[in-house]
Amino acid sequence: MKDFNGKIAVITGAGTGMGRALALQLVSEGCGVAICDVLMDNLEETEKLCRKRAAKGSLFTAHECDVSDENQVTAFCDAVKQQHKTDHINLLFNNAGVGGGGSFLVNERSEWDRVFGIDWFGVYYCTRAFMPLLMASQEGHIINISSVNGFWACLGPMGAHTAYSSAKFAVKGFTEALQVDLRINAPHVKASVVMPGHIGTDIAINSSKVLGVNSVEEMTSEELTRSRERMQRAGVPTEGLNDEELRAMIKQLRDDFRDTAPVTSAQAAAVILDGVRNEQWRILVGEDAQFLDQMVRENPETAYEISFAEKLMEEREKRGAGNVLDALKPREE
Ligand SMILES: NC(=O)c1ccc[n+]([C@@H]2O[C@H](COP(=O)([O-])OP(=O)(O)OC[C@H]3O[C@@H](n4cnc5c(N)ncnc54)[C@H](O)[C@@H]3O)[C@@H](O)[C@H]2O)c1
Repeated sequence: MKDFNGKIAVITGAGTGMGRALALQLVSEGCGVAICDVLMDNLEETEKLCRKRAAKGSLFTAHECDVSDENQVTAFCDAVKQQHKTDHINLLFNNAGVGGGGSFLVNERSEWDRVFGIDWFGVYYCTRAFMPLLMASQEGHIINISSVNGFWACLGPMGAHTAYSSAKFAVKGFTEALQVDLRINAPHVKASVVMPGHIGTDIAINSSKVLGVNSVEEMTSEELTRSRERMQRAGVPTEGLNDEELRAMIKQLRDDFRDTAPVTSAQAAAVILDGVRNEQWRILVGEDAQFLDQMVRENPETAYEISFAEKLMEEREKRGAGNVLDALKPREE
């Protein structure tokens, strides 16, 4: 698909971050866009921005939908058909996602299931629901946002990341399997898997809201204790910090994640849309994603060893890529 003008795109999780950036770039190119999210304040803000930016004549709609709930996804799909007066769409961006569910062993099962439910089943339900509309188009493209955690299942050897990584591996595997399925059964529909490295977004803040975790200011002492334990397991030094200092540190880490990233969400959206135009089925976003992919391919057996993380940190420092992963530097035991 070389041109988005006059096409129709569906973007999940477009309340902020990469989803919002994709929506803004597409509406300004004359693409009709339907977005969804569960955080309504953010959704309304994206709606305002897109209405201002939309090229004349292109239709924009915003919908409340939890992608992990198949009934809501079906209702979202029906609303898109009705409001865009269409029997087809051209682009489906399965972008909604949350972090969390770190350890399979010690974290709450409910959090694990919720993260996997959004990050994998959200992609599955939306692809199921919108596939007939993509097949009804002359040119269709599914863009599934996985992650570097779709090929490297941790945040370093001290940071268990099981629910998110399992879901992102599933998203990548599904998109790879679709390459052949689509070629045989619907060659006018393409699929791309996107594997971003560190992109500056509010995913940490949004994930807490979606998972129903209190904001940093409202965290109870029990929640702070659990966070302290998680951070310690991940190698973040929290010993000797009182509760207020710990709150400040959590807030700082979240702000740093957004503000010190080597790639902004607008830059990431531009890379993703270029990948779609060039029919790349595999889209790595950011230099950090490129060299991590290369390192894992060169040395899969050591990918979860401390020596691998040390090499990764060296590589990051050499290339001056972000500082947020400094927190994941392996600790001396
Ligand atoms: N930021 C990064 O460094 C990074 C790296 C790799 C992959 N990703 C992936 O990129 C995608 C976009 O994330 P982002 O970084 O722009 O963060 P973001 O928080 O700005 O965007 C994710 C959006 O999904 C929404 N969402 C969460 N649960 C939902 C649900 N059940 N139904 C509908 N919407 C829901 C959130 O409210 C949010 O608006 C995610 O899939 C994320 O896992 C992000």
